[in-house]
Amino acid sequence: MAHHEHQHSTEADESTQIAMLDLDAEVLHEHLSEIIATLRDLAEPPVRRILDLGSGSGTGTFALLDRFEQATATAVDASAPMLEHLAAKAAERGVGDRIGTVQADLDESFPQLDDPVDLVWASASMHHLSDPARVLSEVFAAVRPGGLLAVAELEGFPRFLPDDLGFGRSGLEARCHELLAQMRAELLPHISADWGELLTEAGFTVAAQRTSDIHLTAPLPAGTARYAEAALSRMRPFLAARLDTDDVAALDTLLADGPGGLEHRDDLTVRTERTFLVARRP
Ligand SMILES: C[S@@+](CC[C@H](N)C(=O)[O-])C[C@H]1O[C@@H](n2cnc3c(N)ncnc32)[C@H](O)[C@@H]1O
Repeated sequence: MAHHEHQHSTEADESTQIAMLDLDAEVLHEHLSEIIATLRDLAEPPVRRILDLGSGSGTGTFALLDRFEQATATAVDASAPMLEHLAAKAAERGVGDRIGTVQADLDESFPQLDDPVDLVWASASMHHLSDPARVLSEVFAAVRPGGLLAVAELEGFPRFLPDDLGFGRSGLEARCHELLAQMRAELLPHISADWGELLTEAGFTVAAQRTSDIHLTAPLPAGTARYAEAALSRMRPFLAARLDTDDVAALDTLLADGPGGLEHRDDLTVRTERTFLVARRP
């Protein structure tokens, strides 16, 4: 979601977005653990201060605090409900005293920090910014020499469905993703940015870069069907206005509580592409 849209988002939108981020963390848990392990290998200790930019519901913040036991984290997000949810989760997990939250719009200003940070994490947030290059130069100034910036980016929602659903015309999900990709290209001009180049231009040295083709099959993580349902129902108004009526009917069968519905299917998979870069301030 683009930031300007974000400002006008309703409370209901915001709580679906929070639920989706939490489900993404649950379903792609293994991938997150792998990239955080890479980060741990590359980090030059000590890692005491972590900054999570566009923290959302705190997926990265919590995973990082688990791996960097001596660290405290500052979670920055433009959205107050996201940060409230994150703070409540921090208290539940017993790490409330290791996390501070700052509500800030990174398009307007970079948060003031008392000390340089050892590690900055920006997951699926950089592409929302109107001028990522400007923010990256501010990140560079905020990181200590030898410190790291990790950028994780994604091509969109995962794909969950087979081509043939057993009803409707084959290829529904591909048609939905084509429409969603067009929308992203219009609203989020930096979605396909060359992050390696932007990090280098900001003064960082790229220490690791990889794109993972994730393909999970049964047994799938528990939240998979709920994640697919949350993603498709959130996008339904946009898709329903553009798909033909047969496709809209098939989409509604998937979202309904019948035998073709997502919760009852045994043919779901999870396919997605995630890019991860680690950069060091020389
Ligand atoms: C797709 S979510 C990713 C959340 C989290 N990092 C994760 O990986 O689960 C993007 C987050 O960036 C935040 N965001 C978008 N534009 C922002 C801006 N200009 N300033 C601060 N936060 C922003 C949104 O509120 C949202 O929480």
